[in-house]
Amino acid sequence: MENRIDQDKIPFRTLYNGDKIPCVGLGTFGSDKYGPEQVSEAVYGAVKYGYRLIDCASVYQNEDRIGEVLQRIMEEKVADRRELFVTSKVWNDMHGEGKVTESCKKSLADLKLDYIDLYFVHWPFPNYHAPGCSGDSRNPDSRPFSTEEFMVAWRQCEELVDQGLVRHIGMSNMTIPKLEAVLPLCRIRPAALEMELHPSFQQQELFDYAVSRGILPIGYCPIGSPSRPERDRTEEDVADTALPAVAAAALAHGVHPAVICLKWAAQRGQVPIPFSVKEPQYISNLKCVTEDPLTEEEMEAIRREDRNCRLIKGQVFLWEGAKGWEDLWDPDGVIVK
Ligand SMILES: NC(=O)c1ccc[n+]([C@@H]2O[C@H](COP(=O)([O-])OP(=O)(O)OC[C@H]3O[C@@H](n4cnc5c(N)ncnc54)[C@H](OP(=O)(O)O)[C@@H]3O)[C@@H](O)[C@H]2O)c1
Repeated sequence: MENRIDQDKIPFRTLYNGDKIPCVGLGTFGSDKYGPEQVSEAVYGAVKYGYRLIDCASVYQNEDRIGEVLQRIMEEKVADRRELFVTSKVWNDMHGEGKVTESCKKSLADLKLDYIDLYFVHWPFPNYHAPGCSGDSRNPDSRPFSTEEFMVAWRQCEELVDQGLVRHIGMSNMTIPKLEAVLPLCRIRPAALEMELHPSFQQQELFDYAVSRGILPIGYCPIGSPSRPERDRTEEDVADTALPAVAAAALAHGVHPAVICLKWAAQRGQVPIPFSVKEPQYISNLKCVTEDPLTEEEMEAIRREDRNCRLIKGQVFLWEGAKGWEDLWDPDGVIVK
């Protein structure tokens, strides 16, 4: 492996309470393609190289293996606990009374940690679909968003902070109307919003909304998720790495277009969490934010590449009577019920 990166070379972002978070992390969703062994070995290699932020979730079904690797990392003094920033997320079937706490404790046990740095409500719906299910599968019990139900989950997240089991809490896959409904009810505000963000899907309005309220946007699918599962592919999808402004910048900087997507993300201000189990890839994905930034003109050219191309449409969470996946995202600015 190339020499590890000095921690003082990696830019940090600041959460609203002043705590720091690295400006790039490693995703750990194997997309039904990479198993727990490969993903956890990548976590080991990535932390050795210099990553400190690891984005986990119970539904990725690999937290137990990642936990073994985190323990190895600490025993070998590659990084100590306080340097690491580990996230996890409660899955949709665990939103009910007592269930969020149960799920968090399971993640803590699997990850072999005393606390999680940032714990997310993964989706705002309690709608369950089995991991690896097909794109047209539906659960007859699925329901539209309910502020009351969401707050049952959020109150438990707040209690996890009180108990010292998590340091920060966050929301994921939210919209402005849903945030407008829940933010006034929060005793502890979300520190971060995990959302799909890549050059062809910039969500400028939601991004600005979060930033203006001191909520850090964390960008998933930052490269446009080229290895995403079949259920998350449609013919209209755009490949971010093929966008003209991304390809032109890649040529100018002599790097893979994936790396340009990450430079753009980090310079824009979100925290990208690219996934890779391949050492040369995850090395370049961290190194790229420490050198050779994009010019203002390149940033502007990529800003103009937004195509409103949502990749993770969430159609498996739809309820009976919903018109289509757009309903999950409140297209008219009001919560779709
Ligand atoms: N909160 C949520 O609901 C949510 C939803 C989705 C994802 N996430 C999180 O976000 C993370 C990232 O999203 P993602 O995995 O879907 O998409 P991504 O990071 O945009 O894409 C990952 C893929 O890009 C390719 N790649 C990575 N680095 C590269 C490089 N330097 N050069 C060329 N190709 C490169 C790899 O493809 P190959 O494997 O083919 O080489 C890799 O599998 C996930 O792992 C997960 O932690 C969260």
